[in-house]
Amino acid sequence: MCGIVGYIGTQQAGPLLLEGLARLEHRGYDSAGAAVLAPSGLRVAKRAGRVADLREALPGRFTGRAGIGHTRWATHGPATDANAHPHLDATGRVAVVHNGIIDNAAALRAELTAAGVDLRSDTDTEVLAHLVGRSTAETLEARVAEALARVEGTYGLAVLHADFPDRIVVARLGSPIVVGVGEKEMHVASDIAALVRYTTTVAHLDDGEIATVTAGGFTTYRLDRADLTHSPRAAAALDVDVSSYDVPEGSGHMWREILEQPAAVERTLRGRLDERFGTAHLGGLNLDPRETRAIRRVKVLGCGSAYYVGQMGASLIEELARIPADAEAASEFRYRDPVIEPDTLYVAVSQSGETIDTLLAVQEVRRKGGRVVGLVNVVGSAIAREVDGGIYLHAGPEVAVASTKALTTMYVGFALLALQLGRVRDLSIADGKRIVAALQELPGLVEETLDLAEPLAEVAHELAAAESLFYIGRVRGYPVAREGAQKLKEVTYRHAEAYPTSELKHGPLALVSPAVPTVALVPLDELTDRNVAALHEVAARGGPLVVVTHADVDLGDVPCRRVDVPRSERELDPLLMTIPLQLLAVHAATHLGLDVDKPRNLAKSVTVE
Ligand code: AGP
Repeated sequence: MCGIVGYIGTQQAGPLLLEGLARLEHRGYDSAGAAVLAPSGLRVAKRAGRVADLREALPGRFTGRAGIGHTRWATHGPATDANAHPHLDATGRVAVVHNGIIDNAAALRAELTAAGVDLRSDTDTEVLAHLVGRSTAETLEARVAEALARVEGTYGLAVLHADFPDRIVVARLGSPIVVGVGEKEMHVASDIAALVRYTTTVAHLDDGEIATVTAGGFTTYRLDRADLTHSPRAAAALDVDVSSYDVPEGSGHMWREILEQPAAVERTLRGRLDERFGTAHLGGLNLDPRETRAIRRVKVLGCGSAYYVGQMGASLIEELARIPADAEAASEFRYRDPVIEPDTLYVAVSQSGETIDTLLAVQEVRRKGGRVVGLVNVVGSAIAREVDGGIYLHAGPEVAVASTKALTTMYVGFALLALQLGRVRDLSIADGKRIVAALQELPGLVEETLDLAEPLAEVAHELAAAESLFYIGRVRGYPVAREGAQKLKEVTYRHAEAYPTSELKHGPLALVSPAVPTVALVPLDELTDRNVAALHEVAARGGPLVVVTHADVDLGDVPCRRVDVPRSERELDPLLMTIPLQLLAVHAATHLGLDVDKPRNLAKSVTVE
């Protein structure tokens, strides 16, 4: 999705902006641009394409000690030079970069056109530049506030004005903005990935805040319509491993993050298991035993892969805590005007903590008086700040668009939650201890599962030849199949569809043929025999099969490529089964010559509706 960077200080802004934009490349974008403030006014360069194309297009004297930059992911109008940000006002003295969507852009464009303004792009953002440019308020902050009072929608934005050369003004409503504090210099970004090389002392703006950023520091204000009230905010040190943001030699972010899973799982578990009582300690949930006992339902909300892990998590909660639980796509949730029940625990799950659909679902629950906790990776993110309590995943920074280690740690987070809820309710101490012991062994089993990386290459190359594939699994295995299909789609652009195995003969079997392989999940459990019967049905129609299973499962004479995954307790097996599916996807994409870290049309965190 779109990315913002900004710099003001003693150094030349241009190279720093380009470096920051390159660090946002993994988020997905289709054009890039930057503006710097030279003594004679603004210098602007923008190009459809990669940051490398922008670098080529920079004018000879792109100098100035303040500047803003942007990577655009097209929403209003195609990816063209004209639609790339920054956008300027009519005088060329105001430059704006913006993430989010201005919902009333059409009306504002019509109004500006009627007033004689010549609009030069198809974007919603350009109206902001003109509104700021036409304001006659005394300060830049007041001009930005006046402009924002006219717009409906979401924004993270940065404004540079040639008449106010000592500052950048930034604002946030629904789209992240972070201010980074340096030595006589300040940075601005929409994602800390762009800042961590320069500083790890940052302040995240809250929704409805605006900030003045000068070389010497920053000042924050709350925005109420066009009125600004000073609301002081301190910067804090970020606890991150800065090297996680560097592009790893050779294999790329997705591979590295897959291989980091044993360590990530260990971090999620650290200090949270209680062997004596067979339970978990999740202090951040802010739920006392009495409140826990009063929970009658659990509803998990997340998007994309986080939603699929949410389905796995809901099964775990139902199984271990015996509380009815289900998951729903957060992107749909609020549009059906959901009934929010006081005895339901809502769980929002998100790697980035910035996914707008999940954030709005959380706000819908809270607005109606519901209680919502979060399973979030990014500390201090919007969802983490909005929820009533939660579990940080501690997966470490996840840079690749296709989520892997964050999802594994989400599963572990759900296991901990299910354990804590279960042990306050009816889960026996023996079962609690059984799960605790299995969780303790999990990092080792994840490591062992990763040994499949090499053997799976050949299987993945075969799958890569197919245009269309099925992924099937039952009950615990079905969301795993959904996640496996999603991973393959994201990085190979192959059509992959997940079905409950039991649904095959209700329709999709019609499509099974030698050209359509099926990846089947067949764990050793109470449904093994039925799953094996379904494999025969696929094989009888000539469908090539890859079966992800356990060594003790007897597949009989089913012709297939067999992938044996290490066993844990049945409740945790789904986690281990997701790993070979990640490996299949990444191998297949690499075999097809695709860049797994920059999948087409996708963004790392989806901050627009
Ligand atoms: C995962 O591989 C996807 N890129 C995507 O579905 C992602 O899980 C989804 O957009 C939710 O993101 P979040 O976890 O940051 O909220």
